[in-house]
Amino acid sequence: MSFVGDTLVTARSFAEYQAMFALSREDLTGRILDCPAGAADFVREVNTRGGRAVACDAVYVGRSTEELAAIARAETDRGNTYVRDHAEDYVWRFFSTPDDHHDSRRESVRGFAADVARNPGHYVPGKLPSLPFTDSAFDLVVSSHLLFSYTDRLDHEFHVDAITEMLRVAVREVRIFPLVPMGSTEIYKGMDSLRDHLSTLGVDTNIFPVDYEFQRNADHMLVCTHTPRSVTPSGDAPSR
Ligand SMILES: C[S@@+](CC[C@H](N)C(=O)[O-])C[C@H]1O[C@@H](n2cnc3c(N)ncnc32)[C@H](O)[C@@H]1O
Repeated sequence: MSFVGDTLVTARSFAEYQAMFALSREDLTGRILDCPAGAADFVREVNTRGGRAVACDAVYVGRSTEELAAIARAETDRGNTYVRDHAEDYVWRFFSTPDDHHDSRRESVRGFAADVARNPGHYVPGKLPSLPFTDSAFDLVVSSHLLFSYTDRLDHEFHVDAITEMLRVAVREVRIFPLVPMGSTEIYKGMDSLRDHLSTLGVDTNIFPVDYEFQRNADHMLVCTHTPRSVTPSGDAPSR
C-alpha cells in the first residue's frame, strides 16, 4: 500500500458526486448533507440548481474563507501529484489523463472558493463522529473519501460511530463511497464485521455498484438506512 500522507482535502465535482452516489433527480430535491465535503463543488452546484445542500468538514474549523481557498488550491496540487505518481492505480476513463484530472479539480476549487465566500452559512465546521446538526435535519447524507479510504488511521470504532452519527441526522439514508482504502485495490477488509456490528445497532447496510471508477476497483457504494421497525396488527410499532 502507498499512503498519501495527511488526509487530503479534495475538490470533487458535481458530476463525480452524481456518479459516485448514483444520485437521481429526486435525491437532489431533498435536504442533503455532504460530509466530509472538503473543497468539493457539489453543494454549490446543488443549491445553484434550486436544491438544499449543506457542506460539513473538519478543515472548516477555525479557518477563514481565504485560508480555505488557499488550502484547497495547495491540496489539489498535492492530490494531483499523488495520482500522477500512482497512475497505474487509477482507471483513466472519467478523467482521460492526469492533466485532465488536475483541470477538473481546479475548476471545482474555483466553484468552492467562490461559494464559501458568498454563502459561508452553507459550509459548517464539524468533526466526525460528532455533527453539529439536530436529529433528522437532512433527508440524505453523502460521504466520500474519508470512511474506508483512510483505514490506516481510522479504526472500526470510528467507522461505527461516524456512520451512526450521520444516520442520526438523516431521515432516509447515508451513502458512502468508495469502499476501497487509498493505495489498495480491494474492498476494506473489515467490511463484513462492520456491517454485522451496524446491524446490531439497528442499521441496515447494502452495497450497490455505481457508474464511477477512478481508483481501480472502487466502483461500489455502501447505503446505510435505519432498520425498519416492524408493525403490529394494531398498526403500532412494538417497543424495542
Ligand atoms: C479526501 S477529502 C474528501 C472531500 C470530498 N468529499 C471529496 O470527495 O472531494 C477528505 C476530507 O475529510 C476531512 N476530514 C478528515 N477527518 C474528518 C473528520 N473527523 N470529520 C470531518 N471531516 C474530516 C478532511 O478535512 C478532508 O476535507
